[in-house]
Amino acid sequence: MKKLYIVGNWKSNKTTKEAQSWMATFMQQLGQLTEIEEKTIIVCPPITVLSNAVFFLQAVKVSTPIKLGSQDFPANRQGAYTGEEPADLLKEYVDFALIGHSERRKHFYESDELIEKKILTANEVSVLPILCVQDAETPIPASVSIAAYEPIAAIGTGQPDTPANANAVAKTIKEKHNNITHVLYGGSVTAGNVHDFTTQEFIDGVLVGGASLDADQFALIVKNA
Ligand code: PGA
Repeated sequence: MKKLYIVGNWKSNKTTKEAQSWMATFMQQLGQLTEIEEKTIIVCPPITVLSNAVFFLQAVKVSTPIKLGSQDFPANRQGAYTGEEPADLLKEYVDFALIGHSERRKHFYESDELIEKKILTANEVSVLPILCVQDAETPIPASVSIAAYEPIAAIGTGQPDTPANANAVAKTIKEKHNNITHVLYGGSVTAGNVHDFTTQEFIDGVLVGGASLDADQFALIVKNA
């Protein structure tokens, strides 16, 4: 049985209070699920609530399967980079980092070169990058092992790719890049369609945006995956 990655990307949403309430509900729901050890659950909150999420999870004291990720990663370690989070601080909070999400490529003009720099910095501080790619043509640096295939037309539209096509793209990505061990699918994933994706031969998990904002829905996605 393959170990699935279930990643929630909250994007720029949730106050500290809302994040705490989400965590409390999600933990409660997870407690009722079985076989979750087969799934790696990664929650990527906005940076503004990240430290609070860390403290919340530590305070719960029971062992939790929830891992934290950032939605982006700085290209530089530390120094005179006003407005940028220091990579060495971020690594204290997260095990994973989404890098190269299409919203960052579009709204923040991130180039493949900058994205590669971010990946190198994440590697340096032992944070595992999850590189978002739009198709099998997007460049993937050799040090990346996890890619998330997210076709732009499927993001936030309620129009997911077909599981068969997503599987074909995941297969091509793995064939082209020996370093890629896991390909996730992202784009309008819901509790209703997640199983159709995770049961595809070359798909190893999902990256969930909108449907991860509701703790009950996200727990259902973990359950159904
Ligand atoms: P969506 O977003 O699930 O809301 O389509 C996915 C993503 O942007 O990662």
